Amino acid sequence: MANRTVAGNPIVFRRYCAGDRAACLALFDANCPQFFAPDERKDFEAYLAAEAADYRVATQESSVVGAFGVATDNRNDARLNWIMIDPACQGAGVGARMMHDAVAIAGELDKRRLHIAASQHSASFFATFGAIEVTRKTDGWGPGMHRIDMVLNLAAAGA
Ligand SMILES: CC(C)(COP(=O)(O)OP(=O)(O)OC[C@H]1O[C@@H](n2cnc3c(N)ncnc32)[C@H](O)[C@@H]1OP(=O)(O)O)[C@@H](O)C(=O)NCCC(=O)NCCS
Repeated sequence: MANRTVAGNPIVFRRYCAGDRAACLALFDANCPQFFAPDERKDFEAYLAAEAADYRVATQESSVVGAFGVATDNRNDARLNWIMIDPACQGAGVGARMMHDAVAIAGELDKRRLHIAASQHSASFFATFGAIEVTRKTDGWGPGMHRIDMVLNLAAAGA
């Protein structure tokens, strides 16, 4: 997996393992309630327990600083799952690297679309990669946290 740089230190992407669980939950907590509704934590715990085979982590000096997953939805569709970066590392290009990897992974899976369940705080980030808003549900993630479902056409994204 690729090596990146934040503040001079290499960022290494690798697959999630069970030993990363606590660090990933800490990432969630560090981004809650600003970017995730508190009620979403149980869903993230369930995901890590049952569905994390496709999850990947970004590490810096062995510490987990971010994570994301790409999973198959159906024949033509993939889904971006639980993308999050340590607030101390946000804005340094790690999320963009993850989006490029996510598009590449979905392309390797021969999918046509990447679905993204965003919020009003992250939708504009995904839009910069070509994702289009499909539906919006006020308070869909919890009070004050609106759900914005988006789709990214992989052919247009160059996958
Ligand atoms: C959204 C998130 C994954 C972006 O990752 P990041 O590493 O901070 O983003 P990058 O540094 O790669 O930024 C890439 C570009 O997107 C912009 N950007 C970053 N976060 C943004 C946001 N929330 N909204 C709009 N633009 C954003 C950056 O300014 C940068 O623009 P530039 O290339 O013109 O400088 C990260 O901020 C995060 O973990 N947020 C909290 C969790 C979250 O909301 N996850 C999404 C749940 S659906």
